[in-house]
Amino acid sequence: MVRHASGNRGVTPSKLCLPTPGFKVKAKLQGQIVIATHNEGKLAEMRDLLAPYGIKTLSSGELGLPEPEETGETFAANAILKARAAAQLSRLPAFADDSGLCIDALNGEPGIHSARYARDAGGFDQAMQKLEEALAAGPHKPPFKAHFGCALALAFPDGKAKAFEGRVFGELVFPPRGHLGFGYDPIFRPEGFDQTFGEMTREEKHSIPADGSPGLSHRARAFQLFAKSCLDGRTSN
Ligand code: IMP
Repeated sequence: MVRHASGNRGVTPSKLCLPTPGFKVKAKLQGQIVIATHNEGKLAEMRDLLAPYGIKTLSSGELGLPEPEETGETFAANAILKARAAAQLSRLPAFADDSGLCIDALNGEPGIHSARYARDAGGFDQAMQKLEEALAAGPHKPPFKAHFGCALALAFPDGKAKAFEGRVFGELVFPPRGHLGFGYDPIFRPEGFDQTFGEMTREEKHSIPADGSPGLSHRARAFQLFAKSCLDGRTSN
């Protein structure tokens, strides 16, 4: 069930979605932040990514915060909307992710509708099967090109917010392979790799290379941009 956060009342969705012009983190982020997600897979990855920076995290699930309705039309708009709702309700800086799988042969769908697509299908196994059937019924032939997109947004209780975006390109693999990761991971094989995300460990999928080169996953890549702008150096590896 999609619910409105009470903190959103009286604020129009378009206003909620806009990044703050000239947003700048004056001092690098410290202390405690809220991770505005109820998705266990995303929460684990976001905690892994933040852990080396000494940031303490609470999740919106642990705080009992409701999930706002995702009325944005882009990953960035929805990430900002979720981060702002959590920051306003918790009175703490909040960090949110909006992400999804975009398939070229399906005009970028399910894209921002990825979570809903899986809910409507009755789960991820069924959703992956439904995608295979939709692709088989269409005019395109394999390989089916796709990318995962991710926007990570940071918002403050005063409403200031900014999103950072990352993508990873690859191909779809049917039948699904691997039981690691979450969501659509078992059907996505990133370019240059033999394994699907479902066959990779969390570390392989989203760790940040120490030499500053791009991480592999969409979330890792968005995180690198966020870390450069908003976080002090790592305290450990
Ligand atoms: P939302 O960002 O809450 O709208 O949900 C995005 C949906 O996209 C998730 O529920 C997953 O279905 C999917 N998704 C996003 N990132 C990943 C990923 O890294 N692996 C697999 N599925 C993902």
